[in-house]
Amino acid sequence: MSEDQPHWRGAKRPEPFYIKSVAPLRLLAREERERALLAARLNLFNLHSEDVYIDLLTDSGTGAMSHYQWAALMHGDEAYAGSMSFERMRQAVVELFGFEHVLPTHQGRSAELILMTHFLKPGDLVPSNIHFDTTSAHVQFQHALDVNLVGSAIYDWDSEEPFKGDMDLDKLEAFLKEHGEKVPLVCMTLTCNSGGGQPVSIDNVRAVKAVCERYRKPLFLDSARVIENAYFNKRRNPVYRDWTIPALLRETMSHADGMWMSAKKDGLVNIGGFIAVRSRETYEALRIYEILFDGFCTYGGMAGRDLEALAVGLYECCEDEYLEHRTGQVAHLTTLLRDAGIRTTWPPGGHAVYVDGRHFCPHLPDEQFPSHSLSLAFYLESGVRTIEIGSILRGRHPQTGENQFDGLDLVRLAIPRRTYSFTQLEYVAERMIALRADAGSIRGVRFSRESAVLRHFTSEFEWI
Ligand code: F0G
Repeated sequence: MSEDQPHWRGAKRPEPFYIKSVAPLRLLAREERERALLAARLNLFNLHSEDVYIDLLTDSGTGAMSHYQWAALMHGDEAYAGSMSFERMRQAVVELFGFEHVLPTHQGRSAELILMTHFLKPGDLVPSNIHFDTTSAHVQFQHALDVNLVGSAIYDWDSEEPFKGDMDLDKLEAFLKEHGEKVPLVCMTLTCNSGGGQPVSIDNVRAVKAVCERYRKPLFLDSARVIENAYFNKRRNPVYRDWTIPALLRETMSHADGMWMSAKKDGLVNIGGFIAVRSRETYEALRIYEILFDGFCTYGGMAGRDLEALAVGLYECCEDEYLEHRTGQVAHLTTLLRDAGIRTTWPPGGHAVYVDGRHFCPHLPDEQFPSHSLSLAFYLESGVRTIEIGSILRGRHPQTGENQFDGLDLVRLAIPRRTYSFTQLEYVAERMIALRADAGSIRGVRFSRESAVLRHFTSEFEWI
């Protein structure tokens, strides 16, 4: 732990930017919120954004761009092939992450489609710390199985373990020993979104790579929030205290064979993504699928102007002042809730506060989806939109068809980048604390229509 631990106390710092353009927000009356929720068939994805006061559904593509990024849009080179905007974006990726070969994709999950189509065949197994839901879905789409091997600290609510997203090395070793021939690649998610946004230590990435090398398995990093992850390494491991963020990124990636990134997070853009790899051979194989699924390999589903904004955004995200403010917002909201007795993931993670729905609603059994029920009640209470990251999102087990209640059941309050003020976050905390006083009134739900794939997006529910 670094000397300045715990850095999440006193996290409220002035914004390192000022407001230049604004959009209005309106809080609907309680009865209007009730009508909107029923019309959305108790699925918050079905709400119109104008029915939402503060939108903490996701930090993906919802951040504010800088005026440098808006200016860069004007340089967009929309050439079908050989766009100079791609070239600028490619150079940023090469410089920051150190991989020579870059394939733009229109977002993270199209990168996953390309990668998993290339690497997997039916019956394969893909270990990770915890796969994000779209990654799991793409593994399963290839008739393979996703396996989560995160360390057990992530399930301990009170432990101050600084890197709870780390892979359990013993579990990985045992898994590869037993099933090695069915494993075409090993993945890691940095930070670990489905595990409370907890960071992964660079030391763990290095150790995972050593295991992978013994079994000759490539290591690919799901890097949607890898810049926030680098910042946590700087703040929580004294060895890295004086390192720059770009140096930490290079160090992280030096242990991987490839990465993919949903640039809608740490790329500070509204749309975009990419795959980057070391091997020319892998690049050439992936490129075929890229052209098939996402577009020619110098735009990959992105407009030239979006590639420009991404090239700028990647560098802006590496600024210490920005990262301190960003992680400080998450830490501030986490500690406000936690100090009021609301159980959240701990220590504060990178992009969101995760509230334990089971602890908040002890009267609701797992079959009534406590975290989803809480997210609905919280919308009615506050106009704030959040999302369940729990049993609904995990979906049914691909082999048994059963609901999977054996993991965390959380409500995620994801904080868009450079978008909301500390005052708005304090409103969120105040309403959540008020709801807590009346938690017994929160009603459980059941499916009225259940979707087969990625069911949280499109299923419908009714009150019990
Ligand atoms: N990997 C991680 C770790 C993610 O968080 C996401 C998206 C993806 C991959 C897929 O990227 O959305 O660009 O296709 N996460 C969003 C979220 C949706 O709300 O956490 P995408």
